[in-house]
Amino acid sequence: MSTELSFPPFDNVRLATLSDLPRIAMVAAAGFYHSPTFQFQRPYYADFPDDTLSSYWTEYQSAIRNPADVVLVAEDVWDPDEGLGVYGALRGSSMYKFGSSPTADKVIVGVCSINLKPGSWRIGRFQTGNHVDSPTPATPFSTQNRDQCAMSLELYGAATAPAKAKYLAGRMRLSTLAVHPAYWRRGHATRLVSWCIRLADKDDVPVGISAAPMGAAVAAKAGFEEQETVRIKRSTAQESVSQFGVPNVGDVELWVAIRQPSRSPSDTSTTCSDSPTGESL
Ligand SMILES: CC(C)(COP(=O)(O)OP(=O)(O)OC[C@H]1O[C@@H](n2cnc3c(N)ncnc32)[C@H](O)[C@@H]1OP(=O)(O)O)[C@@H](O)C(=O)NCCC(=O)NCCS
Repeated sequence: MSTELSFPPFDNVRLATLSDLPRIAMVAAAGFYHSPTFQFQRPYYADFPDDTLSSYWTEYQSAIRNPADVVLVAEDVWDPDEGLGVYGALRGSSMYKFGSSPTADKVIVGVCSINLKPGSWRIGRFQTGNHVDSPTPATPFSTQNRDQCAMSLELYGAATAPAKAKYLAGRMRLSTLAVHPAYWRRGHATRLVSWCIRLADKDDVPVGISAAPMGAAVAAKAGFEEQETVRIKRSTAQESVSQFGVPNVGDVELWVAIRQPSRSPSDTSTTCSDSPTGESL
């Protein structure tokens, strides 16, 4: 069986390349803005939208280049009014335009990243677009992360680390998922998640996720089962960080879940185990 055949079919989704980064950064910022985690970790987003875009750009650049990660994008026909669904500070950012003007009829509207299982035979098999140069940002990168609050990040990391270590360590993980708000409820997230779980099913491995509530709704539909929900209460967050001048934030919930592999009879012909030789790694 060739490696190509061992990929699930790409149903309106494709592997990302470095040239997609301007659009991916924009879609990630526009989508994640609606997650309480974004509001919690990036309370100064309204003042520093370029920092937000730059951080997503570098995050996905690393993931595209990382042989142990897979970055997948969903495409749709460009909606000329999509800017109406984007928060004002982002629309006003100098970097925004770079990712918002389409170069084709179809544009990237959703993105997800996957961490392959440590030791997976698939590591290094997804670097398809890396011959393409990464575009130069329209304006110099702002790598200062001024939109973020270091204390919030620390608090979030400390609160979520035990559950992540307990349930997700050593597993394949669906690590990020965002769709541009102008393209919600069209099944884009479902298709991205579906590709990920079909990949896991082919290798007969479980997939883990730590999801914000909106992502949890999609993941639960795809068969992920809750292991634990970590809650960072608004009051706790404010008590812990208020002295540092952090604006009000709502409760933050992280749904830690796992989906066990399932095999349909039609998968059997192309199914391979976790390693090409069928050995446990
Ligand atoms: C969560 C998100 C990725 C869903 O993207 P999407 O492309 O709209 O999702 P789909 O169209 O595939 O929706 C699949 C199902 O999820 C549920 N769902 C999706 N968005 C929902 C919403 N806003 N409210 C309630 N249920 C929702 C529905 O059950 C939906 O099925 P239906 O439309 O048949 O009822 C998108 O809303 C998003 O980017 N949110 C902000 C970022 C975020 O929270 N990401 C998750 C981090 S883990």
